[in-house]
Amino acid sequence: MPPPIAKPSDADNTTKSGVSFTIKGAAGKAEAAVAATKSSKSSDPPPPRMVKELVIRRRMKHRPEVLPEHVMSESVYYRKTGNESVVGSGTYGKVYKAIHVYTRNEVALKKIRMEGEKDGFPVTAIREIKLLQSLNHVNVVALQEVMVESNDCYMIFEYLQHDLTGLLNHPTFALSSAHKKHLARQLFEGLDYLHRRGVLHRDIKAANILVSKTGQLKLADFGLARFYNKNRKVDYTNRVITIWYRSPELLLGETQYGPSVDIWSAACVMVEIFTRHAIFPGDGGEINQLDKIYNVLGTPSRSTWPGMTDLQWYELLRPAFKVPNSFADKYRDKVTSAAFELLEAMFAYDPDSRPTAGDVLEHPYFTTEEPAAKQVFELEGLEGDWHEFESKALRKERDREERKRREKEKEKTQGSETIGEKRPADMVAGKVDERGSKRAKTADMQG
Ligand SMILES: Nc1ncnc2c1ncn2[C@@H]1O[C@H](COP(=O)(O)OP(=O)(O)OP(=O)(O)O)[C@@H](O)[C@H]1O
Ligand SMILES: [Mg+2]
Repeated sequence: MPPPIAKPSDADNTTKSGVSFTIKGAAGKAEAAVAATKSSKSSDPPPPRMVKELVIRRRMKHRPEVLPEHVMSESVYYRKTGNESVVGSGTYGKVYKAIHVYTRNEVALKKIRMEGEKDGFPVTAIREIKLLQSLNHVNVVALQEVMVESNDCYMIFEYLQHDLTGLLNHPTFALSSAHKKHLARQLFEGLDYLHRRGVLHRDIKAANILVSKTGQLKLADFGLARFYNKNRKVDYTNRVITIWYRSPELLLGETQYGPSVDIWSAACVMVEIFTRHAIFPGDGGEINQLDKIYNVLGTPSRSTWPGMTDLQWYELLRPAFKVPNSFADKYRDKVTSAAFELLEAMFAYDPDSRPTAGDVLEHPYFTTEEPAAKQVFELEGLEGDWHEFESKALRKERDREERKRREKEKEKTQGSETIGEKRPADMVAGKVDERGSKRAKTADMQG
């Protein structure tokens, strides 16, 4: 039998002609070298040169489409003209709703007011930006970037459809007990984060608390916030926090304070979440504000607040007479029993006795009392955006209509009206003015 013909394996798939071959492994390489020498000696044409082709494949970048209404926008952040896009108008500038023309993400543009700044960029804005850049939490509003455009400077934030003032003043939308608990919990989760990071907010109030259309709450407006020293008592200004939300120790001149000032303000907000009304709506002055507090919580005593007499303005603002505590009469029926107990603890006169935000989150109101907290997903169905700005405009509009209606009525019943009677429309308007004009927030330049 003839011996079997040995078939070349794939590894040494060479041809004597040297036209083409595939080599794998060292043995193959040696054989190929021999083959190449042989072929060079013969008169066969040299093997063709192998040419490597470099193929660069570019991933096609998605070409962003711009909506026809955004094409003419001068800025990458399109906003409606005039006052149509304004969602907030505060002490330090306006806040606009805008949309990124490429990503179509909604944003809030907070314009930094530069008028009257002699020393260049305002130090308060630098502090706010620096602080916000160091924060990252679901319950703290995210600063996306800072933009300079047409000689104006803006902070660009994620946009949230509502703030607590807007929501609580909504003409028809009502929150359930479970919703209220979820909002309150997020408020204290945000505060707990800030205080653990060594940040005092110093302007907690309903208008500075944003709520998304899915019921997510975020603390905003860090214009008065600052890092505080956890280990050492340092002097800060006491002229912080919108006066209705200002704690009694600040009103009496305390300058060495800590997170307990935010707890007092948050307790005021929690009452507002429950009742839709501010608990201590003063007239804007310190004396009147203390009176408002005393009228609900009673006048403080040395036993409940040992440090009171050391405060700078204690003698000056000493109450003329004792007032009993009427907090239970006024609020026991308006909130659940655990919530009442928690509020009582947060409204302690002695700042050292107030619970921390961490303690608050551990309270039975959040941990055991029914109903359990439930996110306000129902907000998704709410028409329009509700901020303090829109609700103020709505209130003004309603007052105007009410005034007109009353005037017409008066014309009809001319002569029969009693002189000097105070009309409800005046009272409502008075309240609006009071609220608008008495936002005694003071810029804290030194700290
Ligand atoms: N990211 C945001 N998304 C939606 N609305 C916002 C946002 N940031 C702020 N606003 C709205 O603008 C209002 C004013 O903003 P902010 O409180 O930050 O500014 P401010 O000028 O410091 O106001 P003030 O001094 O009156 O407290 C808020 O009350 C809120 O209604
Ligand atoms: Mg504000």
